[in-house]
Amino acid sequence: MKHLIDPTDLSKQEIDQIIALAEDIIAHRERYQGSMAHKKLATLFYEPSTRTRLSFTAAMMELGGQVLGFSTPQSSSAAKGESVQDTVRVVGCFADIIAMRHPIEGAPLVASEVSRVPIINAGDGSHSHPTQTLTDLLTIKRELGHIDDITIGFCGDLRFGRTVHSLIKALSRYHGIKVVLIAPDELRLPDYIKQDVCEKMGVEYRETDSLDDAIPELDVLYMTRVQKERFLDEDEFDRVKDSFVLDARRMALAKPKMAVLHPLPRVNEILTEVDEDPRAAYFRQVENGKLVRMALIISLMEWKNDPEHTMPEHEAPIVNPALHCTNAKCICNNEKHQPRFRLAENGIMRCWYCDSKVR
Ligand code: CP
Repeated sequence: MKHLIDPTDLSKQEIDQIIALAEDIIAHRERYQGSMAHKKLATLFYEPSTRTRLSFTAAMMELGGQVLGFSTPQSSSAAKGESVQDTVRVVGCFADIIAMRHPIEGAPLVASEVSRVPIINAGDGSHSHPTQTLTDLLTIKRELGHIDDITIGFCGDLRFGRTVHSLIKALSRYHGIKVVLIAPDELRLPDYIKQDVCEKMGVEYRETDSLDDAIPELDVLYMTRVQKERFLDEDEFDRVKDSFVLDARRMALAKPKMAVLHPLPRVNEILTEVDEDPRAAYFRQVENGKLVRMALIISLMEWKNDPEHTMPEHEAPIVNPALHCTNAKCICNNEKHQPRFRLAENGIMRCWYCDSKVR
């Protein structure tokens, strides 16, 4: 069975297949109505969402399927202490496929370990957001006509922005990708993405704290919100919250065909004066999210019993009582799961569930 927990669970061919299917859905919407008739999607959202939850709901409805679930853990038995694994065992009795968002990193991964239906990670903490990645890839394809050979600038909160982490992982499989990381010191991209992804996959990247310097060379500008909910220190948040603001003056420095993406919601980082600029693709990106989730649901349901489409093989996890994950938001520090680790690039030990470096 195929789950989608991390973008690398999909091969590049599978990603391209899903994007091609989304494009076919755009061209022939009527052909897919009813393709999920009598099927049910469960949306288990332990954290707030507008786009992801509602686009999954709309996607399943357009395919003729039905949707059940919860939008806050307080309305589920999680509030009584039910574990993530027990919850998906139960929901798997009612639904054919599950989309889960959770503030705890690694929660969708442990869910997938016991689930009898495909699990889709709809965002876990600061860790990963693979369906946003599919949305972003489809948007880049539709805006520029290609995904290979682009220079993309990621701007804002690269430390906590899970959409950034996931998109860099996916883009590292494409040809000729150049990445410009635009962030203040406090919000720089975690080392594990730079080492395990960019350096390992040969993605050219540079870091800067000047949007003005970077913007003229970009084909895509990926803006992000500073993630207040991930900060442990409010003073630190106040220092960096308005680090970069995209306005009409900055847009004038950009290429005429640059596409501005943002996973949304935005707070202050893109002024509304940019919205009418034809290069502002972030509301088109929202609609692409529904279309690509339609394609993903169809694909995972088709692949459920297909031996050609299984989870990638990984080396067995390392279990060592002397090692501890220090990420307070990791599932192994919030529920009873045996701490497990993997040896990553440069001999660095990382948590199996959340990818944090183990010291
Ligand atoms: N882009 C995104 O994940 O938005 P929501 O938090 O509204 O789902």
